[in-house]
Amino acid sequence: MMVKKDLRILGLSGSLREGSFNKRLLALALSSAERHGAVVSEIDLSKTPLPFYDADLEARDGLPSTVLALKKEFMDADGLMIATPEYNGFFPGVLKNCLDWLSRRSSIEDPILSSYNGKVIGLMSATVGGSGGIRSLTALTTQFQYLGVMVLPRPFSLMHAGKAFSDGGTVSPELLSSIDEMTSVLIDTLQKLKQD
Ligand SMILES: Cc1cc2nc3c(=O)[nH]c(=O)nc-3n(C[C@H](O)[C@H](O)[C@H](O)COP(=O)(O)O)c2cc1C
Repeated sequence: MMVKKDLRILGLSGSLREGSFNKRLLALALSSAERHGAVVSEIDLSKTPLPFYDADLEARDGLPSTVLALKKEFMDADGLMIATPEYNGFFPGVLKNCLDWLSRRSSIEDPILSSYNGKVIGLMSATVGGSGGIRSLTALTTQFQYLGVMVLPRPFSLMHAGKAFSDGGTVSPELLSSIDEMTSVLIDTLQKLKQD
């Protein structure tokens, strides 16, 4: 399936580490979306100096420039993809901190939850164990429903990620086809929503 209209998909990993399985999963999903004709981009939180959310800092200085830049990237995107690890049955604090900053208004003219309005998101999680991050996916689903983002059904869960990514970058055709299925559903949904 090829994209008929301009579609922009933004990816974000909940893991900061360089060899992250979630970063690798996200990279595969973004490549798949690109093959379908979407314009893709990625936010790398390990290269994004984001302070902890602090209402005093916000009251004094307004939103940090990093947050304003992230807000713009979110607002420019039609669809979102997140791949996240599960930390103690939840999604990581760095991701929550980022999502909280993005929920703030840059000014009184900035509509409430403007970073998230009208977005559709595909969720993924990779873990080394057998859980596949299903608890972090449930938590993220609740989080995005609160933020008013349409969450695609059937989030993608990858258990035993160490095995799936063990062969120096070569992954199984089954994994690639499952990822492709998810990106196809995201693109199909976005195209239907964009129909005038
Ligand atoms: C603080 C912490 C808590 C973790 N909690 C869980 C957990 O609740 N469930 C799980 O399946 N794996 C858990 N793990 C293992 C992660 O799934 C594993 O480290 C995974 O590879 C991290 O993703 P990454 O490769 O993208 O960095 C935890 C790891 C850390 C560091």
